[in-house]
Amino acid sequence: MKKYLIAGNWKMNMGGADGLQLAMRLAENTGIKERYRAEMLICPPAILLKEVAFITADSGVLLGGQDCHEGEAGAHTGDISASMLSYAGCSYVILGHSERRQDHGETSRLVNLKANRAHQSGLKTIICVGETFEEREEGKEKEVIAAQLAESLPDNATAENTVIAYEPIWAIGTGKVATLDDILDMHSFIRSEIKEKIADYEDCRILYGGSVKPTNAAEIMDIHDVDGVLVGGASLDAESFAAIAGSC
Ligand code: PGA
Repeated sequence: MKKYLIAGNWKMNMGGADGLQLAMRLAENTGIKERYRAEMLICPPAILLKEVAFITADSGVLLGGQDCHEGEAGAHTGDISASMLSYAGCSYVILGHSERRQDHGETSRLVNLKANRAHQSGLKTIICVGETFEEREEGKEKEVIAAQLAESLPDNATAENTVIAYEPIWAIGTGKVATLDDILDMHSFIRSEIKEKIADYEDCRILYGGSVKPTNAAEIMDIHDVDGVLVGGASLDAESFAAIAGSC
């Protein structure tokens, strides 16, 4: 049976003692593997990864990076390679988050190169796609998502090493959530779109992200083809993140 993935993206928050405390609270919540039908993953700021890896070791909480470079090593000031994330204890990396696409001009082509490298380094990737409010208003959301998927997914993507996260940009951090029908429609569209690239596409996990919280997590994860959630704001509180993990 497919295990749900509950991923917490801390973004540029909780980078000090507060982050260590949050990791401790989550790690204390022992027996996660047995209690939840889910894998719980946290993606703290890179500066905290090694310390959090010590805190979460043996707890069942998995660790991920928020981005990586497409190269293996070299003169890339300020960047982190996939193998460095792996060395720090990560098993996942988020790629192509809309904040990176917008703030850093990341293209789907670049996301493809990063994902290819991450897979070669043994990391699993969470590849994010999502449309803007204007694109949805114009009825172009499927066109946009199809193009992002076609360009972002590398040739070495499999259901084992790749997770897709559908995050409508207008729902991120806004408190607005796509309707259950829209999520159902988009997730089944994504499932059919990845057929070309991922042979075992039926086993590929597709997450929903955008204002997920304990009060809406259960109904979202009940939707067919929703295999977990990518959580920003609500992952910064141990109780609410654990409650979301317990909703599937
Ligand atoms: P949010 O963020 O849960 O705060 O809306 C989701 C995300 O950016 O992954």
